[in-house]
Amino acid sequence: MTIVIFGGGGDLARRKLLPALYNLHVDGVLPPRIAIVGVGRKPMSDDDYRAFAKAGVEKFSRRPIEAHAWEAFAAALFFVAAEVDGEQALAPLGARLDIVEHERGLNGDRIYYLAIPPTLFAPTVQQLARSRFVPPPEGRIARVIVEKPIGRDLQSARVINDAIAEVFQEPQVYRIDHYLGKETVQNILVMRFANSIFEPLFNQKYVDHVQITVAEEEGVGTRAGYYEQAGALRDMVQNHILQLLAMVAMEPPHSLDADVIRDERLEVLKSLRPIEGEAVDANVVRAQYGPGFILGKAAPGYTEESGVAPASTTETYVALRVCIDNWRWAGVPFFLRTGKRLPKRASEISVHLKEVPPILFNADRSARLDPTILSIRIQPDEGFSLGINSKVPGPHVQIYPVKMDFHYGSTFGGSSPEAYERLLLDVIAGDATLFMRRDAVEAAWQWVMPILDRWAERGRDGLAAYPAGEWGPSEGEALIESTGRRWMAP
Ligand code: BG6
Repeated sequence: MTIVIFGGGGDLARRKLLPALYNLHVDGVLPPRIAIVGVGRKPMSDDDYRAFAKAGVEKFSRRPIEAHAWEAFAAALFFVAAEVDGEQALAPLGARLDIVEHERGLNGDRIYYLAIPPTLFAPTVQQLARSRFVPPPEGRIARVIVEKPIGRDLQSARVINDAIAEVFQEPQVYRIDHYLGKETVQNILVMRFANSIFEPLFNQKYVDHVQITVAEEEGVGTRAGYYEQAGALRDMVQNHILQLLAMVAMEPPHSLDADVIRDERLEVLKSLRPIEGEAVDANVVRAQYGPGFILGKAAPGYTEESGVAPASTTETYVALRVCIDNWRWAGVPFFLRTGKRLPKRASEISVHLKEVPPILFNADRSARLDPTILSIRIQPDEGFSLGINSKVPGPHVQIYPVKMDFHYGSTFGGSSPEAYERLLLDVIAGDATLFMRRDAVEAAWQWVMPILDRWAERGRDGLAAYPAGEWGPSEGEALIESTGRRWMAP
């Protein structure tokens, strides 16, 4: 297998892809013969590229470099400088790939990873076709991995998907949503469908509401150029959070076949009640961080970050009340929130079961019992817990909420594989389960469009503010508290 990384000298390659491939190599799960060829505009020798990769792995790999393993891994790394403009743009890449594949005894099965800005997706796949890099489906393997963002609205997503579809057939296309590669996210299906206790409760009869929080402590960092055009709804909700929602809410698939699972996830997206017009103002809160403190250290406001327009109305926080109009979830609100510069990095899904009846232990309305809550901690401290009520030992009936708690770290030891490890391995194996199909990407865009349209109409009107280091604006609290519920601190 040859893995060709367009954008091979970029940030994603350095931070995620090369460390992931190195860890797969250490685990001995990569194909025995492999070449990893970085492609970028800026020329680099193979040795420079190996040094670049080593620095990335040293800094970002979950496991330290081990000299012997590194040597063999580094020998499989190559770099080719190429542009995607011009008739013969990829000719030097083709010539080099032929030599590398010949020398390493590879048969030309290839994966093309587009770790490049979305404006380059279409020109790059067109060049792949022009250079005859994409054999007919019955020939050698040719797969393409596409990073997010896939467009910035429904229309641009369709344009990108159309351009890809002109060159690759849908089963050859692997659209990354790296949240689907996280261990804990995959475990949602195992938890739901490999245990008899939870699934009978996952419906409107027993569930009061569901919360999904994806909180980040980091600000916009060096990505203002991208983020200014995106904002939290496009950056996190359209993809990651809707996929988490789909995993929690989907019907049991009849098999583990990739398309069966993807069909079920899509059904959830299609069942989302549209939020349009004035309903957006009532059900969606958007906000931007101002100056504040993170862990006691002063942090600038969003508009003071480098690369951000002083009058920017880009949202860095969004909270939504969402309904799924299907039989299972009718009447169960899903509260979703995400933001940058919140107090800590923590992602969690919590399923809040209905209260017990107001008799016996729950008879005292001034001291209501905590409801049963199932929390799925996605990161950090991966695991899940069940909050239940227990009697405090002693002669009186005193009730105290306790937790049945599972931690990946203490149960399985070691560090869980990074999302990109699992995802790269799946592409090598040809398993598309954890990837976004075209219809799902477009269904998600279709659902967020009326929200984006309403915001475009209102401009700054309705954009709330929160100090960096706090849990979002008061409007975000009010969104859930007006229904008699509260956000659960992750
Ligand atoms: C990316 C977003 O997709 O996900 C970033 O573009 C965000 O803005 C990141 O920080 C969060 O990923 P993780 O794995 O760190 O939770």
